[in-house]
Amino acid sequence: MQPLQGDDPVSTVLEPTPAHAARSSRDPVGRYLDEFPFTGPGRVVGDYLRRFWQPVSRSVDIPAGKAKPITVMNARYTLYRGASGEAFVVDHHCPHRGTQLSVGYVEGDEIRCLYHGWKFRGDGLCTERPGEKGKSGGGMRTGAYPTREFLGLVYAYFGEGEAPAFPPYPAFEGEGIIEVYATLLPVNWFQGWENDWDPFHASFTHRAGGLHEIDYDAAIASEKNEELDYGVRRTMDIGDGETNTAILLMPATVQLLIPTFNGQAGRDNGPQVRPTYLIHVPVDDHSHIAYLTQLVPLEASERDDYLRHYAEMLALMAASPTPAEVAGDILANGLRTTADVKDHPMLVEIEDSLAQGGQGTIADRHAEHLGRTDAGVVMLRRLMARELDAIADGREPKAWTPCPLIPIAGAYRWASDS
Ligand code: FES
Ligand SMILES: [Fe+2]
Repeated sequence: MQPLQGDDPVSTVLEPTPAHAARSSRDPVGRYLDEFPFTGPGRVVGDYLRRFWQPVSRSVDIPAGKAKPITVMNARYTLYRGASGEAFVVDHHCPHRGTQLSVGYVEGDEIRCLYHGWKFRGDGLCTERPGEKGKSGGGMRTGAYPTREFLGLVYAYFGEGEAPAFPPYPAFEGEGIIEVYATLLPVNWFQGWENDWDPFHASFTHRAGGLHEIDYDAAIASEKNEELDYGVRRTMDIGDGETNTAILLMPATVQLLIPTFNGQAGRDNGPQVRPTYLIHVPVDDHSHIAYLTQLVPLEASERDDYLRHYAEMLALMAASPTPAEVAGDILANGLRTTADVKDHPMLVEIEDSLAQGGQGTIADRHAEHLGRTDAGVVMLRRLMARELDAIADGREPKAWTPCPLIPIAGAYRWASDS
């Protein structure tokens, strides 16, 4: 770790994190630096994340009468939607002799195991065991997890005791349609979450899409990360007298206003700024899903036109390699850059997959040389370490209050607009 140069006051906030700090009991970030990535059962970060509602699927990806296996924070489950339309999450394995429940039959709001027909309610109670005496469930259960749906996503709660308040954040206000994306990124979740605390990556990572350019020195001078009751509010000047605001919510959600993606309906069609929640959910230690749910602000009269463009984009997405495939090829073989794939409908996700995937699927944080653009990342690590310390000491981590919506005025503008 190199010490930071010069006498810039910001650098005092950014104490470098030398490798030996990981062994220092006085440095909370150092203590958890190697722990942040791991969310499986029994890990302290996994314990923290399980205290919150976690998205497990887009609502449209689980039709009524269907079941599918899901992996969340290194544990496997069965997600199914019953005839009533309600979605349920139960364990991966049947408690009888362990067959995967997701290959069974959804019957009404229950799921019947493919192997010997044991049947389970969405709350886990076994209601039928064909061939057994009395054929009743006999008090047998499979694990079951509370579920809810909100803004096009199915959420589940995997923690102990009563689930926290739902929804975890407020609905968007105003007319329009909700658009939802779920992108698998082939990197550890914490890199995705750190990326949200690092607005400076946009100028270079998202250069090909012309997303927005930041004057680093001006932005650093104006960057403010304030911890409030509901999360951390980041504000920074982005030129032309405009301030950009993001709200960072623990454990891994950011509320922000983002420009229309590369492929989303075309730059000249539809609104250019969308109120958005971006949520990172670990799949396993080496991958996570970035769930994005956003409001496309539309007047009723614009709706049909927009939906035509949207259908075109969905067709283009279906015909395109996934962001993970494109990024994986570029990372492994080179010869192409983001400029060569700038017509891909999910260019933004390719760009982020390259930047984060380039760190390795689990970044080596001991090899870093942090600088002034990393103030947000440093703050996140400190915040996480504080919450993990509370859990490790048997105390309750901070109870966050509901967040407000970011006013739409003052959002990003296209670099080319200015
Ligand atoms: S393994 Fe499920 S009913 Fe036998
Ligand atoms: Fe990004």
